[in-house]
Amino acid sequence: MKIVAGPASEQLAKKIAELSDLETVPLSCRTYPDGEFYVRLEAPLDGEEVSIVQTTSPPQDTRILQLALIADAARRAHAKKITAVVPYLAYARQDKMFLQGEAISIETVARMLKAAGVDSLLTVNVHEEKVLRRFPFPARMVSAVPLLSNYFKRKDVQNVFALAPDDGSKWLVEEAKTILGGESGYLEKQRDPHTGQLTMKEKSLNVKGKTVVIFDDVISTGGTVTQAAKAMFDDGASAVYVACVHPLLVGDAAKRILETGVTEIVGTDSVASNVSRVSLAPLLSKEIGKGA
Ligand code: R5P
Repeated sequence: MKIVAGPASEQLAKKIAELSDLETVPLSCRTYPDGEFYVRLEAPLDGEEVSIVQTTSPPQDTRILQLALIADAARRAHAKKITAVVPYLAYARQDKMFLQGEAISIETVARMLKAAGVDSLLTVNVHEEKVLRRFPFPARMVSAVPLLSNYFKRKDVQNVFALAPDDGSKWLVEEAKTILGGESGYLEKQRDPHTGQLTMKEKSLNVKGKTVVIFDDVISTGGTVTQAAKAMFDDGASAVYVACVHPLLVGDAAKRILETGVTEIVGTDSVASNVSRVSLAPLLSKEIGKGA
């Protein structure tokens, strides 16, 4: 097995290779003046299995195409098996037609990757695991919640209430509770499919005097977590922390969240950001070792 460090995840891929004691395949990449991307694997892959580590956070379309081009290069270099290791899987939230006339975007991405030569996919915490059934090859996810929970355990946070900001994230807090102890609960959120406007249903949770840790898979604009944090302070939480797997943190999302009084936002390096204090490298290296 060899690792290819995609341009979007160079640091993470190098850490994975080090931890797994795997060789990285030298890759030369450049962008032409007109914006087109060029890729060349600088060593043969004859008969080798290869894992291409490339996250697809913004600019997601560029990164998906880069992944496809690298997979194509690996296929032409006669790799035996090509696994796309995609810590943040873009378009996973458009996993069905919410309104008539829409695309099922993730299925298009999946078919593109198949056409490029990808044989299997490993990702981390997609919102709904069943989206992976849309891939025309084996695709699976692992959860970074234990890594995030252990971050808070090491901080020795006491009297914890693990909160999911919507019922889709309920299982994240169930998982967190097994490590952090304490209690857990969830809010109910609705998003208008036409405007994207969020509404949190009024719901009173028993968080008075407790340290709330909000767990979400993705923070994009920060709207979800901001509303959840405000609701927790209204209900008497003594402190609120935010843990997320994929800190996209678009625009001033982090600032908006911290302005509510949140103590800290912690994310993983699925998306490199200034809150990425938890590395996925140990988790992904273990999974790749199992033959991702
Ligand atoms: C979807 O429900 C996800 O779990 C996240 O809650 C959502 O994508 C976060 O988006 P935003 O930060 O824009 O509210």
